[in-house]
Amino acid sequence: MSGFRIHNHGDVLCAGTTIKMFGVRLDVFTYLADGLLVDTGPSRYARQFTGFFQNQPIRQVALTHCHEDHSGNAPWLVGQGIPVFVHQAALAICQERTKLPLYRRCFWGERSGFRAQPFDNILETDRKKWQVIELPGHSPDHVALYDASNGAFFTGDLVVTPKTRVIFKWENIPQTIRSLRHLMAYDFQTVYCAHAGVLADGRKVVERKIAFLEELTGRVLSMYQKGWDIRAIDRAIFSPQPFLAFITGKEMASEHIIKSIIHHR
Ligand SMILES: [Fe+2]
Repeated sequence: MSGFRIHNHGDVLCAGTTIKMFGVRLDVFTYLADGLLVDTGPSRYARQFTGFFQNQPIRQVALTHCHEDHSGNAPWLVGQGIPVFVHQAALAICQERTKLPLYRRCFWGERSGFRAQPFDNILETDRKKWQVIELPGHSPDHVALYDASNGAFFTGDLVVTPKTRVIFKWENIPQTIRSLRHLMAYDFQTVYCAHAGVLADGRKVVERKIAFLEELTGRVLSMYQKGWDIRAIDRAIFSPQPFLAFITGKEMASEHIIKSIIHHR
């Protein structure tokens, strides 16, 4: 892992690190604005993240979803008496310690149980009213935080990359497309992504992602209707298999994109 980095972008403090393991390199970021911390980083890097948190005026925490790289340090924040908000659907999950597959345990670390509180539609901080917008697809409990005063969206794992090549087996691509389209209904430019960092041209990235996924959906369905099976479509579109598929024992794989497009069409 390389060093922990902190920088300002407008009135947002961005803090994160780069994780290198199994030949994979991935950034992970948390954001702090007006006393609101969005996501908490993974527990494996608790020393760096909590070291940062304890010097900041954090009054509330919003989790974009409960995955361990976003909720990993939430138990520590709750222990400091700071309220942590999450989608209603994730409250029970957050109370339990995670039981992760080996590669996620190595990469992010397990997260112990903690008591979170359910989001309202609006989250108020000293100077802002944040809209909490449900945007499922990556996970059923996924939300984004919208700051209308700055035209800024804090999007967790919704955007990440415009050209998706692997997804988790539970992800729902048609639902992701609907969520991205919903996002576009808001007036925003900047996207604060948990893995891609600050995207000043976030609106364009979201547009590109929608175009990519819609074109991909058309291709997959047309091949399927011509009688191709899932494996053949996957090979034709995504060969060679993304490396992540091997590391994750196919918990993440391109075939889940194909299956999701066919099964949720
Ligand atoms: Fe996630």
